[in-house]
Amino acid sequence: MTKLSVNINKIATLRNSRGGNIPDVVKAAIDAQNFGADGITVHPRPDERHIRRKDVFDIRPIIRTEFNIEGYPSRQFIDLVKSVKPHQVTLVPDPPEAITSNAGWDTITHLSFLQDVIAEFKEAGIRTSIFIDTNPDFILSAVNTNTDRVELYTEPYATLFPINPEKAVAPFVEAANIANKAGLKVNAGHDLNLQNLKYFNEHIPFLKEVSIGHALIADALYLGLERTINLYKEQLIK
Ligand code: PXP
Repeated sequence: MTKLSVNINKIATLRNSRGGNIPDVVKAAIDAQNFGADGITVHPRPDERHIRRKDVFDIRPIIRTEFNIEGYPSRQFIDLVKSVKPHQVTLVPDPPEAITSNAGWDTITHLSFLQDVIAEFKEAGIRTSIFIDTNPDFILSAVNTNTDRVELYTEPYATLFPINPEKAVAPFVEAANIANKAGLKVNAGHDLNLQNLKYFNEHIPFLKEVSIGHALIADALYLGLERTINLYKEQLIK
């Protein structure tokens, strides 16, 4: 089965809107795992507008599945990740002020930067993944960064899916095949939801992991976190 990593940033956003500790992000991470999540993802940003540095340290000891920290590899981020030692770090190219990640890496232009950063994480024993578009040249160049995985940026898939699912998934199938043949494992994320997830997963048989936040937390408002996680997991049965 493809693993479901639940991104709990939106829970922190809700907490931060009021001050105090409701909802409790550590409890949310514990509960999400008890309800069947295969991993927890956080994206600490420099302005701490959702997940804070302290949250990352507080969550680490309660992880019994897989901890994935995503973010732009600034010096501060690299040091944070190395001291927390998650199972996986996912590198995104977005600037600190971006509302959400909105593009993958240009792995050609940033090849030597990514090589250096990835070498540092690997030396620390942390698996790496890089957020990437379906451009075959970028996938091929990703191989030279020595990353373990790529995370395909699925926003374009999610946008086109309601109009033309076949056309929407085609570039992702091609990109995933190129990555797989080159020995890279494939993750995916962004705007995946209960409508588009099953189809995506069915077309990429070796998909390892999806990381889902916004839609899943929004669904949980209506369905509850436990039922929502179970429904997402059902979409991921191969
Ligand atoms: N993957 C990455 C790299 C992201 O930045 C995000 C958003 O934080 C996601 C996956 C999850 O996207 P969504 O919140 O749309 O499910």
